[in-house]
Amino acid sequence: MTKPPLRLGVNIDHVATLRNARGGDYPDPLRAALMAEAAGADGITAHLREDRRHIRDDDIARLMEGIALPLNFEMAATAEMQQIALLHRPHAVCLVPERREERTTEGGLDVAGDANRLREFCAPLVDAGCRISLFIGHDARQIEAALRVGAPVVEFHVGHYCDLVAEGRHDEAARELAQLERAIRDAHGAGIEVHCGHGISYDTVAPFAAMEEVRELNIGHFLICEAVFTGLGPAIAEMRRLMDDARG
Ligand code: PXP
Repeated sequence: MTKPPLRLGVNIDHVATLRNARGGDYPDPLRAALMAEAAGADGITAHLREDRRHIRDDDIARLMEGIALPLNFEMAATAEMQQIALLHRPHAVCLVPERREERTTEGGLDVAGDANRLREFCAPLVDAGCRISLFIGHDARQIEAALRVGAPVVEFHVGHYCDLVAEGRHDEAARELAQLERAIRDAHGAGIEVHCGHGISYDTVAPFAAMEEVRELNIGHFLICEAVFTGLGPAIAEMRRLMDDARG
């Protein structure tokens, strides 16, 4: 039996990181998004952080205007970000935890500890037509809380697994993967659409691409790094090839 299609969301944050290193206009994240589209991406992901360290407000406006692909707008659950999302009405809003001092999103959202507030927070976004996704770890309590919030999508944070693989800690990686697989099946079984993201590379994409319960992968940093050597189009095309191979 053929598995349902697997979408690739390309995260273009780190094109903006490079641009901001010199404060000019290039490389342009919109140009990267258009190249990603041409190379076979199914969506574009961008994270507008509170400190605007990579993506800026005008990038979101230009992406909404300039791309045909759906935009997955990653943001913290703050009033400021909610206003921006309501202004642009992106296809999807992915809620992530955010700490100023972190280098990247380190863990999942504590949905279980904040379910009532998140439910209220999401209501106007849902009314505006945005599909809500909650970025969570593999803890069963978070899945159960995502159901209470009424989120149609969860994205599992697979960064810890990817780090363990990169460090050659294979036994721990296998245990982490088993926990992720269980959580993916539980969330899917509960009727939630499952996405995965964070830290995925050519070496770590296969197990997630192979799972028919997974419908979308969001991948950024590795692709932008690989693009330095091969160009963005070929890097994305190779990721797409590995995803398709693993899906079988
Ligand atoms: N998905 C989410 C929710 C994220 O926060 C990030 C990082 O911004 C990604 C996917 C992409 O992670 P990476 O850049 O490590 O591929």
